Amino acid sequence: MTGQPIRSMVDEESGWAPVSHSPEETQALGVQIGELAQPGDIYLLVGKLGAGKTCLTQGIAWGLGIKEYAASPSFVLLRELHGRLPLYHVDLYRLDRTEEVADLGLDDYFYGQGVCVVEWADRGLPVLPPAHLLVEIKYLDENSRHIRLKPNGKRYLDLVAQLREKVAHANSH
Ligand SMILES: Nc1ncnc2c1ncn2[C@@H]1O[C@H](COP(=O)(O)OP(=O)(O)OP(=O)(O)O)[C@@H](O)[C@H]1O
Ligand SMILES: [Mg+2]
Repeated sequence: MTGQPIRSMVDEESGWAPVSHSPEETQALGVQIGELAQPGDIYLLVGKLGAGKTCLTQGIAWGLGIKEYAASPSFVLLRELHGRLPLYHVDLYRLDRTEEVADLGLDDYFYGQGVCVVEWADRGLPVLPPAHLLVEIKYLDENSRHIRLKPNGKRYLDLVAQLREKVAHANSH
């Protein structure tokens, strides 16, 4: 057998990679995710400085009915916001070793009843929950971003399918 392992072929087919043309569009995608979020959901965000991870998170917060959200600097490690569900917004930017992430004791958040959004998740992928939605944001140009959604696990396959439908529906109105 040659070619891609089956796992990554499945991911290719089940994933989704829309292009956002503005911060507002990225936020709007976040809102749709926030509206579909369920207790225990984990969204791992990966992308360089200024890619748009916080921008997407802001939308997710709004989609969860959180009004108090304001963008904040990267040094905040974890903050908790309350909407329809709790949102645990984690930012691993300041950490540079996976062991440090493991030492943070985040499992109560990851395996709780809230929604976890982790910026700079690549800092700790080996110790983060294996079932998650991976979101890779890539800079295309000043206002455009590739937002690649890769589901890992059944819950997230369903979520991406629902999200695609919801976004298509929103765009047709
Ligand atoms: N399509 C887009 N989607 C998201 N952000 C965009 C887009 N176009 C331009 N931007 C700009 O890119 C920046 C994204 O900043 P944001 O803080 O969300 O990035 P980040 O990935 O969280 O960075 P950091 O690694 O510093 O936490 C903002 O200034 C935003 O206005
Ligand atoms: Mg950020």
